[in-house]
Amino acid sequence: MPLVTFSSPLHKDKTVYAIAGSHTKTLLELAKENHIPIDFSCQEGDCSTCLIKVTNLSRKGPMGGPLTDREITVLKDLKKITQDEIDAMKVDDLPHTSWRLACQMIVRDEDILVEYPSK
Ligand code: FES
Repeated sequence: MPLVTFSSPLHKDKTVYAIAGSHTKTLLELAKENHIPIDFSCQEGDCSTCLIKVTNLSRKGPMGGPLTDREITVLKDLKKITQDEIDAMKVDDLPHTSWRLACQMIVRDEDILVEYPSK
C-alpha cells in the first residue's frame, strides 16, 4: 500500500495510506479525505491553484503516472516543464518534472512526498 506524505511549511507533516490498485483517485481527493488543506479551485486542471511538488520515495527517478494534457498546458504556462521534458515523457510515459496538479495526478503504487503551499 503506497504511503503518501503531505508536507507544508505551515502544517505538520502527515503520512497516509493510499489504496493501491484503483488508479482512479487523484491526489487532491486523497488529501481532502484526510483533511489535508491543499488549496484548490476548479478541480479540472485549469487554474493551477493545486500546484504541488512530488518526490518519489520508492525509487530514484520520476514517479509513475504521466501528466494529463491539462497538466502539460498549465505547467508549460507556469514554466514548470520544458518542451524537452514533455518530449521525453512521450517516449517513456513517465513525468520528467516534480511539479504536478493535485487534481489531475492519479495516486499510483509508490511512496511519494507531496509538498504543498497552503494558507
Ligand atoms: S484545482 Fe484548478 S488546476 Fe487543480
